[in-house]
Amino acid sequence: MTALRVRGLCSGYGAVRVLHGVDLQVGRGELVLLLGRNGSGRSTLLKALMGLIAASGEAWLGAQRLSGLPPHRRARLGLGYVPAQRDIFPRLSVRQNLLLGVKPAADGSPAPWDEAAVLARFAPLAARLHAPAHRLSGGEQQMLALARALLGNPSLLLLDEPAEGLAPQRVAATADLLDTLRAGGMGVLLVEQRPWARELADRVVVLGDGRVQFCGAPRELPPAVSAAWL
Ligand SMILES: Nc1ncnc2c1ncn2[C@@H]1O[C@H](COP(=O)(O)OP(=O)(O)O)[C@@H](O)[C@H]1O
Ligand SMILES: [Mg+2]
Repeated sequence: MTALRVRGLCSGYGAVRVLHGVDLQVGRGELVLLLGRNGSGRSTLLKALMGLIAASGEAWLGAQRLSGLPPHRRARLGLGYVPAQRDIFPRLSVRQNLLLGVKPAADGSPAPWDEAAVLARFAPLAARLHAPAHRLSGGEQQMLALARALLGNPSLLLLDEPAEGLAPQRVAATADLLDTLRAGGMGVLLVEQRPWARELADRVVVLGDGRVQFCGAPRELPPAVSAAWL
């Protein structure tokens, strides 16, 4: 069953067109890695899927049509998003930031991610619960953004370079967490250039010239595609 289905998505910024008809899908329990050069539109695609910038084309989350809905409605339907710039509220405490993310699962299933579950996974956050978020290191803020997204119990998670600024052992912990999420049936669309993500991914999607240039198993990525688009 598909968690996310996208057809002919076009988007950009004002007169600047970035995406010219993107087709892709992410299954339940599938981790899809979105690759492309800097500026190829990976972040733009995630923003368009979340409804943060205007887009044409069609997108569905499970059986629900997303097209035209504002971001909060998409979140309520089960779409989670961790932006590259994290969007932490700096003056609120770590705990207050986390609580802003709390939401039951859209399908009414028991919500696996509550505060206790998240704090057990992200020990550095548990240790800094009452600190203002701006006191956290970049890596800790990255964790906070991911933890907050999980508290929304999404069925499909959009992740824009979630391991940026993390120490190597925390990168490994992030990979482990994504594996756990996938095993629990969550769909994940991940933007990440480093090799750990290719080892983890079920499929890779290569974005170039505003379209999908390749889609398939990581091992099947043709050298010519890498040379031309990565
Ligand atoms: N807020 C913005 N306003 C105008 N152009 C933007 C904005 N954000 C990104 N762009 C442009 O859109 C293109 C795609 O950017 P982006 O989606 O951030 O690429 P990626 O995440 O793959 O590196 C780039 O040419 C970039 O300069
Ligand atoms: Mg980006």
